Amino acid sequence: MATLLAVGIQGLVMVVITVISLLMPSMTRRDLLFGVTVAHNARETAEGKAIIRRYRLGVLLVAVIEAIGLALLWLLAPPHFWNSLWIVIIPLVLVLIPDIPYLLAWRSARALAIALPPASTPAPSAGLRPRRYADYVPLIWEALPLALIALTASYLAFTYAAAPAIIPTHFDAAGNPNAFSTKSIGSYFMLVWTQLFLYALITFLSVLTVRAKATVRVPVFLKLAPDLDEAAMDGIAKVIATTDLDGLIVSNTTITRDPVAGMENASESGGLSGKPLFNLATRRLAQMRQRTSLPIIGVGGIHSPESALAKFEAGANAIQLYTALVFGGLDLLDRIKRGLANTVRAEGKSNISDVVGRRAAEWAKGELSL
Ligand SMILES: Cc1cc2nc3c(=O)[nH]c(=O)nc-3n(C[C@H](O)[C@H](O)[C@H](O)COP(=O)(O)O)c2cc1C
Repeated sequence: MATLLAVGIQGLVMVVITVISLLMPSMTRRDLLFGVTVAHNARETAEGKAIIRRYRLGVLLVAVIEAIGLALLWLLAPPHFWNSLWIVIIPLVLVLIPDIPYLLAWRSARALAIALPPASTPAPSAGLRPRRYADYVPLIWEALPLALIALTASYLAFTYAAAPAIIPTHFDAAGNPNAFSTKSIGSYFMLVWTQLFLYALITFLSVLTVRAKATVRVPVFLKLAPDLDEAAMDGIAKVIATTDLDGLIVSNTTITRDPVAGMENASESGGLSGKPLFNLATRRLAQMRQRTSLPIIGVGGIHSPESALAKFEAGANAIQLYTALVFGGLDLLDRIKRGLANTVRAEGKSNISDVVGRRAAEWAKGELSL
C-alpha cells in the first residue's frame, strides 16, 4: 500500500510536469520562444512550428520513458527502496529530465532570434527595460516545486504521526532493518529541507541567468492623426504589414475645427482633443480596424461609459483617455469601468473583447455618431 502511494505520488508529479511542459510554449509571451526573443510571428513560421512540435514530441518521449522506469521500479524494487534516499532523487529526476527537450528547443530557437541593440545603446523608438524573472519563468513553473514540497511535507507529517517511537534507519540486502534511531522531526523532514534548499538554489541560479540577459524588446505602437484620408490609411496599413509593429493608437488630436465651428476659441491653433474629437477619431479607428488585425488602442474624446463602449465596438482592443479627466476627474475611470462591466454582464458575455469591432462597419462609413 505504501509502495503504491509512493509510486502514485511520483506518477502524479510526472503527469503534472508533462502537462505543464506541453503547455509551456503557449504560456510564455509571444515574443519569447523558449527564452529567446523572437519576432511576434515567429511561432507561425514553418521553423517556429517545427521547433514547438519537436519540443512537444520530446516531452512526450521523456514522459513515456519515465512511466516505463516508474513501472519497472514498482514491479522490481524491494519494499525498503521506497523508504530510502531514492524517494528524494526520483522526483528530482522527474523534474529535471523534461529540461532536456526544453534546452534542445532553446538551442534551435536561437536561429530565430531577432537582433537586439547592445544593452548600452538605447533603442531609437523605445526605451529598453530590464528583463524580469517572470518574462522567462511562468509563475506556474515556480508553483510546481512548491506544490511538490507541500505534498512531501504533508505526506511526511502524516507518516510521522503514525510512526513508532523507534524507527529503522538502515536495512540489509534482504530488506530487514539493522539500525534504529528514535524518531525525530529533524530527520523525518530531511527530505523537505533538501527540496527547499534545491528549490532556493535553482531559483537563485535562474534569477542570475535572467539578470545576465539585460534587455528586452519593448512593444512599439504607432499613433495616428485623425486627419488622414483613406488613401493615407491604405498606405500606412501596407507599410505596417511588413514591420514588426505591435499595434496602433488611433488617434491623436485633430487640426480640423469642423466639430467646434462657430464656437468661442474655435480659431485657436493647435490640436483639438476631447468630446468634439470623438466621432472623427472613432471613425478613423474603425477604418484602421478594417485594414489591420493588429491591436489598436482607441483614444480621442472618450468621456463616458457609452463612448468607451463605442470605441470597443468600433474595433479598439484597449482604450485611453486624457481630456475628459480634466472635467470628470479620476472618478470617471471608475464609472467607465463599471459601465463596461454592466454592459458585458447584461449581454451575457464574459469579456469586453467579445464586443470588439462589432460595429466597425457602421462607424467606418460614418453612419454612427455620439
Ligand atoms: C495637452 C495635451 C498634450 C498632449 N501631448 C501628447 C504627446 O506628447 N504625445 C502624444 O502622442 N499625444 C499627446 N496628446 C494627445 C493625447 O494623448 C490624445 O491622443 C488626445 O488628446 C485625444 O484623447 P482625449 O480626447 O482623451 O484627450 C496630448 C493631448 C493634450 C490635450
